Order: sequence, then structure tokens, then C-alpha cells
Amino acid sequence: MLNGYKYFIKTYGCQANEYDSELIAGILEKFGANPVDNEIDADIVIFNTCAIRKNAEDKFYGRLGALKKIKNEKKEMIVIVTGCLAQKDYLKISNIDYVDIVLGTHRISQLPTILQELKYNKNKKIVDVDFTGRTEPDIPPRRLSKFSAYVPIMFGCDYYCTFCIVPFTRGKMQSRPKEQIIKEIQDLAQKGYKEIILLGQTVNAYGIDLKNSYDFADLLHDVSLIDGIKWIRFTSPYPTNFNDKQIKTICTIDKITKHVHLPLQSGNNEILRRMARRYTVEKFLEVVYKFRELCPNIALSTDIIVGFPYETDEQFQDTLNIVKQVRFDQAFMFAYSEREGTKAATYPQLPLKERLKRLYELISVQNEITIEKNREYVGKELEILVEGESDKNPNKLEGRTETNKIVVFDKIEKDLIGKFVKVRITKSYLWGLEGTLLNFG
Ligand code: SAH
Ligand code: F3S
Repeated sequence: MLNGYKYFIKTYGCQANEYDSELIAGILEKFGANPVDNEIDADIVIFNTCAIRKNAEDKFYGRLGALKKIKNEKKEMIVIVTGCLAQKDYLKISNIDYVDIVLGTHRISQLPTILQELKYNKNKKIVDVDFTGRTEPDIPPRRLSKFSAYVPIMFGCDYYCTFCIVPFTRGKMQSRPKEQIIKEIQDLAQKGYKEIILLGQTVNAYGIDLKNSYDFADLLHDVSLIDGIKWIRFTSPYPTNFNDKQIKTICTIDKITKHVHLPLQSGNNEILRRMARRYTVEKFLEVVYKFRELCPNIALSTDIIVGFPYETDEQFQDTLNIVKQVRFDQAFMFAYSEREGTKAATYPQLPLKERLKRLYELISVQNEITIEKNREYVGKELEILVEGESDKNPNKLEGRTETNKIVVFDKIEKDLIGKFVKVRITKSYLWGLEGTLLNFG
């Protein structure tokens, strides 16, 4: 149906979107289209959008705006907008005259039917953002990597943190049946995949909605029994969903990589309450210390929002203090961005300048810690999974440790991409580590 067509997908946002783009690519290629790496050469342009913060929105609208001229010169081009912003702003986006299809986050499986419809009526605008539960396409994703695969284990989120748009764009929590997940990973293992990244917005709440008492720890355990899969990663957990069984499973099963993302958001209890996070700082710290007790070398990362409504300077200092106390390996730090439709957007807002001032202060504190944490790796011999050429230097390869540290090393003749190799760490930086290759096999 699409033989000879060229497609280009621009993906914004998180791994859930990256996975959805792989699904879309799978469908388009099944119908005969081939990928290209820019809009100008494409017959089908897909924007897979993100709505998490205003700057993600602005980037998309900027790029969409620039497409207008290209589409004017190439009238037969098909423009598709999907992802979280398509879900949230479908009225606004469908009013843009050169957008042909607006596809909601639950409707990717409908893409084949929609493309068929468009074929018979080229001037039609199709808006399908129905939001009653997600079904998966019959066509498998076209995975970008040959050795590492995203596997969503749940969609949506039921938590409604007051700052967050995700429950409004991704819908209710919906766990996939365990048989489906296990079968998918077995197939991936047979195809030679080595690393699996389990995805979900509150990934460690897996199974609660299925009400069959099979939980995230059981799933991790069963995935670890699949031959051929060497590393199992997962993201993003909700900090206080971790129970002793889960922590023990993660710390004792070798194949589960020793990195856990624990989104703190704020180090002050009053702000956590206003964010509707379901824990106190004390509870959060308990989880940190349990992980570190059972697994002293575990790497911990976090997400933090500063300048949330009502946050005073003292409350911000509380966040700084917790950051200094915990010493995360890495932190994703954000100035609060109000999202229309969420509860916190109705609160009185702090001036943007103040939010940014706090953000820069936090970043400078955390950067020091990240640098110190990375320095502890110098001299160590570690196994890494080689992911590809380094972005910064094509003469170097880049991989990742099981603690999620980036390591670069000199390229050799042999093709090492997708392989596990051993390196000795020689230098450390803010962004990661440099090493020398010891052996590969
Ligand atoms: N379920 C994931 C959250 C996904 S959003 C989790 O719990 O980790 C990723 C991060 O973006 C959040 O953890 C939060 O730190 C940040 N974020 C979400 N909404 C935001 C907003 N309105 N302003 C600033 N940062 C936000
Ligand atoms: Fe967002 Fe909170 Fe869910 S951060 S994705 S509403 S756990």
C-alpha cells in the first residue's frame, strides 16, 4: 500500500514514545514504506509529541511550523501528529490546515485502517484520539536496536501527581498480561537481543490492576529465567511502591542491572503533599537505605522539580539537603512547568526567574556529586554493553555499565557493537567515564 513511500519520524519525550515510534515504523514498513532521516525527503512525516513540560511543546510547534513551507511545495506529503500532545491538544492540532492525521496514544493500532482511508480520500483529515483503553497493533515494532529492546509492561498511570499531565494523555493504568510479556521477551532472546528495558510509568506497580497476585517481583524473576537475556533494566518505578520482596529480587538476581531510578520530586513533606506524591521524605529515605543495605554498589538516579507552587526558599533548601544526604549518581532536574488541566496549574505560581534560579543552584550541587560519584569508578574493571559510536568522537565507541554509566573507549577493527566487553576505567567526567578495552568475547 505504501510501496515507494519514504517516512520520517521525529520522536520527542520518554521511552514510551520511543517505543510507540518503533510500533509506527513497524506498521509503515510492513506496508512498504522506507525510513529517511529528514522531513524534506519524506512522503510521510510523523511527529510523536511530548507534553510533559512547556519546552517540549514549544520544540514540536516550532518544527511543525517549519514544515508548512515544505508541505506547500509537496502537497501530497502526509503529516501525522501522535503522542501525548496529540492526545491533549487534538482540537488545536487538527485545526492546523497542513496536518492530515491526529492520532491519540491509544490508537496506534488503528494506523493501518486510517492509512487505507486516506488512500481513498486524499484530502480527508482524520482525527482519532479515542481514549477508552489501548490495544496493541498486530504488527511487531521495527526496533532501532538489534541488541537492546524496550518492552512496555504497562501503559498509563493512575497516580495523578498534581503537576503531571501523563494520566491525562496516557490514560488509566493498564498492565499487559504476563504471558504476552514473557512470550515477547522469549522471541527477542531468540533473535539475539541481550538487554531488555521494561517500561511503565509506575513500572513497579505492575499487575495491581490485573488482580491475580502476580506482581513486579514475580515478573522480574520470570524474565530473568529467559535464556539469552543478559541484562534486565526497568523504568520508571514509583519510589514507595518498592516492597521488601521487590528490593530483594532486584538486589539478588544477577541479570537485573544495579541501577534504580527513584523520582524524589521534592525534599520537603509539605511540597510532596501538595504534589500528591504518596510518600514522605522519611519513607523515601527508607527505600534508599534498604537498597543500599542489600546492594552497596547500586546506582541511584532521581527526578526533581524545583519552583513548584508555594515552594519557599526554606523548602527548596530541604530539597538541596536531601540531595546532599542521598548523593544520587544522577539527577534529572526541572523547573516546574504548569500544565493546563492539572491541579497544580490552578495554584498561585512562582515567578519563572525564581524557578530558574533554584534550578541552577540545584544543578550545581548535583553536578559536583555526579562528578565525585563518577570519580569512584576510576581504576575499576567493568563489563559494559557496547551501544555504538560515541556522539562526540567517531573514533571512539560508547557503552553503558550495569549501573547506567556511559563509558567511551578507543574503537578497534572488530565490530563490538551489541557485545559485552570488559574495560578498565581511566578517567571520569560529569557525563560519564573513559576506559581502555581489556577483553571481549
Ligand atoms: N512516572 C514517571 C514520571 C514521568 S514524567 C516517574 O514517576 O518517574 C518524568 C519527570 O518529569 C517527572 O518525574 C517529573 O520530575 C518531571 N515532570 C513531570 N511533570 C512536570 C512539570 N509539570 N513540570 C516540571 N517537571 C515535570
Ligand atoms: Fe506522572 Fe505521577 Fe504518574 S509523575 S506519570 S502522575 S506517578
